[in-house]
Amino acid sequence: MAGRTSTRLLYLTVPLGAASAYGIHIGLSHLEAKYPNLSASKYASAALQAPQHPDTQRCAYTDIFAAQIPLTALQKRTRSGTHQTDQIALEEAWARTVLNSRILRVEASVLGLLTKGKFHPGDTGQNGFRDGRDGTTQTLLNGVAYTQRIPGADADSRGLLIAWGMAEPPRVFFEMIARWGYPWRLMSGGRHEMGVSDPYEVPGRGLCVDVRFAGAHDYEIFAVEGENQKVIPAWVMRLHAGYARLILDQAVRELLQ
Ligand SMILES: *[C@@H]1O[C@H](CO)[C@@H](O)[C@H](O)[C@H]1NC(C)=O
Repeated sequence: MAGRTSTRLLYLTVPLGAASAYGIHIGLSHLEAKYPNLSASKYASAALQAPQHPDTQRCAYTDIFAAQIPLTALQKRTRSGTHQTDQIALEEAWARTVLNSRILRVEASVLGLLTKGKFHPGDTGQNGFRDGRDGTTQTLLNGVAYTQRIPGADADSRGLLIAWGMAEPPRVFFEMIARWGYPWRLMSGGRHEMGVSDPYEVPGRGLCVDVRFAGAHDYEIFAVEGENQKVIPAWVMRLHAGYARLILDQAVRELLQ
């Protein structure tokens, strides 16, 4: 009986699993075609690509995605009292739009519920961004990330730069089994950059800007791994990038509503 039930369960779950894997594949392919990975040398600040601890870590890769939107859509989101054409005001508006996208708000709110007993996303930049120069760190989204560099902070800046860290136990666990031969291990953390291009004219659409959402991952360097330093498996990397594309897609949709 138990045997037959589990067989029946298999009949049910295998096609369901295959169908949802196929659905995820289709969804990812759609987003990948819509938002190709852009070159870091052209579209990222040096700070996005700089590991948190350069002596022991390397920034293994970046993922940079962009979408074209009418300039006016972003200008509507600038804070009152700022100049609507000011690049810094536009970059702040874009960063706030991303951090307030439904997908990130829900994620951060669930985290808030678990850690503080309150279904609230925490700081999403509604009162502006500040870097650590005054000695206090701005924690965003209930601890998901913190502000590393505010828009316009320096000549290298390409918008808001936020950073996050991986919990140590899982990273150390994967580093241990990687030493025993396991082919993959986890990143130590990473950064996200939210930039806005200069406005340009698009026939039929008026003045537009490209809004960008970029990510980068740092990994510990292990001399024994030589040239081929281990990273996460390709399919996890694809899901990660897919999630970033989804955040960009949602933020743009909400901006255009
Ligand atoms: C995206 O492009 C960058 C080069 O700018 C590269 O380092 C990175 O590996 C690419 N990402 C993926 C997931 O292929």
